[in-house]
Amino acid sequence: MELMTHRAAGWKIRLRKASDDAQIEAVFRDCLTDFPWRRAHDVELVRLHGLLASNHCLVAHEDHAGIVGFLTLERRKAYVPHLFVHRDWRFCGVGAGLLQVARDMARSPLSLDVDAQNGAALAAYKAMGWYEKVGQVPPREGQRRLSGP
Ligand SMILES: CC(C)(COP(=O)(O)OP(=O)(O)OC[C@H]1O[C@@H](n2cnc3c(N)ncnc32)[C@H](O)[C@@H]1OP(=O)(O)O)[C@@H](O)C(=O)NCCC(=O)NCCS
Repeated sequence: MELMTHRAAGWKIRLRKASDDAQIEAVFRDCLTDFPWRRAHDVELVRLHGLLASNHCLVAHEDHAGIVGFLTLERRKAYVPHLFVHRDWRFCGVGAGLLQVARDMARSPLSLDVDAQNGAALAAYKAMGWYEKVGQVPPREGQRRLSGP
């Protein structure tokens, strides 16, 4: 079942199926190449697969391109461990769409942690109205905890 459709850009958002996992991993691996400060990519992949198995995951897909982005959600905490959009599909509303559907599922404003060195993501979150709450400490050093609108 589609949870959101962007008719002009052609993508749709739905819940993940197990058969999506290879494409999810491909998007994730490619995005990680832009984060040289994150060295242990194998550890990141283990964490991703653990979350896919135990939490909610939304995917954005397009008929020809396949999976163009995904988000994992710890629904009870309204926390987003992953938000990754294929580089060819950025600035098409995919990230904002995934966050909107996740917010509706959580029925609460969301939070996430972003690497302090990830200037592009920080700019995107700022554009979407995300902000840093005073006193919120991210679990990992070198990250910033953001709250969504
Ligand atoms: C950050 C990311 C998820 C944004 O996804 P996206 O699909 O490109 O974002 P959207 O198209 O929905 O854009 C939402 C808003 O952010 C803005 N935006 C997106 N990327 C931006 C950037 N690099 N710089 C400035 N603004 C940006 C858009 O212009 C839009 O603002 P608007 O509504 O005022 O026009 C995507 O760039 C990405 O996957 N990056 C690599 C992985 C990553 O860093 N993930 C975040 C980990 S916490």
